[in-house]
Amino acid sequence: MNHLNNINLGEADYNELKKKYQGENLDIALNKIKEGYPVQYLIGNVNFYGNIIKVSESVLIPRYETEFLVDLIKKSINNNESLKILDIGTGSGCISISLAKIFINSQITGIDISSDAISIANKNKELNKVLNVEFVNKDLFTIDKFEDFDVIVSNPPYVSLTEDVGIETKYEPQNAIFADNNGLIFYEDIIKKVSVSPRVKHIFFEIGMNQKEEIENLCNIYLKDYNVSSYKDLAGKNRYIHIILNK
Ligand SMILES: C[S@@+](CC[C@H](N)C(=O)[O-])C[C@H]1O[C@@H](n2cnc3c(N)ncnc32)[C@H](O)[C@@H]1O
Repeated sequence: MNHLNNINLGEADYNELKKKYQGENLDIALNKIKEGYPVQYLIGNVNFYGNIIKVSESVLIPRYETEFLVDLIKKSINNNESLKILDIGTGSGCISISLAKIFINSQITGIDISSDAISIANKNKELNKVLNVEFVNKDLFTIDKFEDFDVIVSNPPYVSLTEDVGIETKYEPQNAIFADNNGLIFYEDIIKKVSVSPRVKHIFFEIGMNQKEEIENLCNIYLKDYNVSSYKDLAGKNRYIHIILNK
């Protein structure tokens, strides 16, 4: 905490800011933070799963909780396998890039509706020197099925349009956060498409803390032979789902 400036800013972030901004510019940056502007956008990058990930206002700031999703995938699948993995709503590319480094024999595709996000993801691909990942500017809702993929991963927008999320997310892209149908439209669309995608064996989702039952219900509606497991975050909330399709 930097008491001098009366703002909630960790020492490490403050030092990073001081490297990038001096004098009057540092004051301007600190004032922005006071108003709730994310320090990560001012610094320009975050550490995600040990990787440096560039961020701008075009992408959601990767969250610490999402590292658990990467870890869950790492623990659930043999990393020698050669798989085709699809990351839906890739944003900065943080999940795809982390997976590309773990699953070195696999090919990862990250898609996003935002072309600005895809250009940040491509910069992150270069920065992290990973070759087994590609980023494609694509709208999930224009895809019929996941023809070539073995694994589907997604941390989609999942906050209901009527939910009040406070100031923290005000400066982030709103289409990265809010979703129709009580925040469930992405999960339903993905599960429905998996039901007609013969190769898909695993689905991994990050979910909102009250969505577990509704997503399990969607599995029940659309899928035939499957197992679903849920996992809690450090606060004890159900935040992750792993569906295995038995084929
Ligand atoms: C919650 S953010 C996740 C970003 C990143 N995967 C992460 O975990 O930090 C959701 C992402 O979904 C993208 N998105 C929103 N609507 C989409 C759509 N119809 N098709 C594909 N991506 C979409 C947003 O642009 C945003 O980057």
